[in-house]
Amino acid sequence: MGLRLKTEYWDNPKTREAFKAFILDIHDLDFTEWETRGYWDHAYTPFSYFKDGQLISSICIYLLDAVIAGRETKLVQISGVGTHKDWRRQGLSRELTDLGLQWARGQHQGVFLFADEEAIPYYERCGFSPLHETLEYCHAEPTPNRQGMIQLDPSNQENLDKNYSYAQNRTPISDKFSVFSSKLLMFHALYTMRNKMYEIPDLECLVFFDREGDVVNVYDILGRTIPSFQKIYPYISSETDKRINFHFHTDKLEIKGIQTEIITGNNTFVKESFPVSTPAFPFTSRA
Ligand SMILES: CC(C)(COP(=O)(O)OP(=O)(O)OC[C@H]1O[C@@H](n2cnc3c(N)ncnc32)[C@H](O)[C@@H]1OP(=O)(O)O)[C@@H](O)C(=O)NCCC(=O)NCCS
Repeated sequence: MGLRLKTEYWDNPKTREAFKAFILDIHDLDFTEWETRGYWDHAYTPFSYFKDGQLISSICIYLLDAVIAGRETKLVQISGVGTHKDWRRQGLSRELTDLGLQWARGQHQGVFLFADEEAIPYYERCGFSPLHETLEYCHAEPTPNRQGMIQLDPSNQENLDKNYSYAQNRTPISDKFSVFSSKLLMFHALYTMRNKMYEIPDLECLVFFDREGDVVNVYDILGRTIPSFQKIYPYISSETDKRINFHFHTDKLEIKGIQTEIITGNNTFVKESFPVSTPAFPFTSRA
């Protein structure tokens, strides 16, 4: 087929541009802002086939900082997966995944990914299996709002620098299980969390959250230490709140009456055995 395999090519501007164009084409995702703001991550490693200079199939191995049962470790997330439509069903994506996982062997404790709905049959065919997740939540107690929270605007460089400094100096959100790579966090600051980032200077922490009707979704909390949720909640509370969902494990938040739901039919997949059963993947661990 005359294909050329390329990997670890971020320092080659032409090849990197081809990768960015491919991701824009396949996933409608433009990495330019993450790149120009300086958060491109060399822990994100591409394995790509090129034909006549054009990228036709690619996967990325993202080696992420994680904590499992109180110990720092690494996990692999597979992302950026795609094959140009003229080249599908020829085994290219599977080959690249195998090559990537061989390359990463011995450097991590487990492999996971978040599948798009239409790609689930492909992942099942390639030997990945679904992993149930946990959602932790609690009922909101009526709490008067206390002033003092400041929204961070990511188009303001000072705000972004502050956010990055929090991300680099944070303690992991959970000792039970968390994933906390700082440059991936900045991807979320620039893309998924743009209007959801707040600083509570009194508590020296950032809280990423939003509100859908009477439900509050807390996506992440960044600080050198994690204040109890009892201290945080008055800064983000609204009198109409009924329920608070946490998109991570809450073991550091000292919440009384925390409840859990097992989420099945989610799109989380793992390869072989994964070291944590029914984890709550932090929302900000998604690449
Ligand atoms: C999903 C995708 C990456 C698969 O790429 P590909 O190069 O065609 O995959 P492969 O040829 O390596 O397929 C490996 C196996 O999965 C099977 N497979 C691939 N796509 C499949 C599909 N849509 N449904 C069922 N099986 C599929 C192949 O037939 C092959 O099975 P085999 O063991 O019988 O040979 C490609 O269809 C794609 O780019 N889709 C759009 C983007 C996307 O969904 N990416 C994943 C986001 S999480």
